[in-house]
Amino acid sequence: MLWPKLVCFAFVSLAFGQLEHVAADKTIAACPTNFTRVADKCLLIDDSWKNFYESDRHCRSINAGLLSLKNQTELNAINNWLAEVAPNQPEFWTSGNKLGEARNDYFWQSTGEQAVYLPWNTGQPTPASGDCLALLAHVSMSTGQVVMDPHRLTVKNCTQWAAHICQAPLQLFQTQLCLNTMPPGGQQLEELLRVGSPLPIHQRRTSEHQNQTELNAINNWLPLVAEYQLELWTSGNKLGQARGDYFWQSTGEQALYLPWNTGQPTPASGDCLTLLANYKHVHVEHS
Ligand SMILES: *[C@@H]1O[C@H](CO)[C@@H](O)[C@H](O)[C@H]1NC(C)=O
Ligand SMILES: *[C@@H]1O[C@H](CO)[C@@H](O)[C@H](O)[C@H]1NC(C)=O
Ligand SMILES: *[C@@H]1O[C@H](CO)[C@@H](O)[C@H](O)[C@H]1NC(C)=O
Ligand SMILES: *[C@@H]1O[C@H](CO)[C@@H](O)[C@H](O)[C@H]1NC(C)=O
Repeated sequence: MLWPKLVCFAFVSLAFGQLEHVAADKTIAACPTNFTRVADKCLLIDDSWKNFYESDRHCRSINAGLLSLKNQTELNAINNWLAEVAPNQPEFWTSGNKLGEARNDYFWQSTGEQAVYLPWNTGQPTPASGDCLALLAHVSMSTGQVVMDPHRLTVKNCTQWAAHICQAPLQLFQTQLCLNTMPPGGQQLEELLRVGSPLPIHQRRTSEHQNQTELNAINNWLPLVAEYQLELWTSGNKLGQARGDYFWQSTGEQALYLPWNTGQPTPASGDCLTLLANYKHVHVEHS
């Protein structure tokens, strides 16, 4: 008698956009849905025009960050990819900036690291033109054809608009799909095992639960770990906002729960929010 046989293959989960057949029992590197693997990371282009702060928040709302650059190999891969998928888009925000820096050092906001590899465009950097870095391609006309050079870094005012590129790390995991060979000859594909599935990438973070209960828990915790700390930064800000709306930069969401200190908010005193005094309330601080 022919026993039903289980034949297992490893597949990239459907949740990750494409179903990809690979050898069983292997670790799979995949990108979140709508992201494309480029060099050693996952990238996503958003063509809508946003300022730097809005672009950063958009990336964070999908559990990603704005683009950072590591080396020439990576930039070449990104430029080859851009030529294919966005041949007419000359400008994208990266996470590079010198916001809040006294010296003209640039940092990748998405990784927190100082920017060491800085492939400037000709004539760049021009620190006086702004604090944020965009990938810009010079466009020219050659025998009636539009020619776009490879993208390189250019200093830009953070409040100006551009498209942007979000990056997320490659997800490494194993998952298996098993082929249950049922007699007589009928084959039934059954998903029997899922080994080490990664966390859902697009799961929203906790901020939608930000409420009085959470603030009370934070206020109970702070005296235990930071008894003498009167003031702490939050991610709340209205940077790049024409209207006075506040956003949590870390989640990209608009701040709905805003437990103000007495006399607050005072929007003219700054763009960013701290937790101030007795660890109880939010207070407007200088950015
Ligand atoms: C992927 O992109 C499509 C089209 O823009 C969108 O409808 C969908 O929600 C996106 N999926 C995820 C998981 O972000
Ligand atoms: C450049 O970065 C890639 C990852 O994107 C890495 O694999 C490679 O080793 C690096 N190359 C150099 C020359 O540092
Ligand atoms: C950026 O542009 C805004 C609005 O035009 C302006 O107020 C601001 O001073 C500029 N910032 C820099 C660093 O040039
Ligand atoms: C408040 O936030 C906590 C998580 O911090 C959540 O579990 C709870 O359901 C929220 N309560 C309300 C009333 O929204």
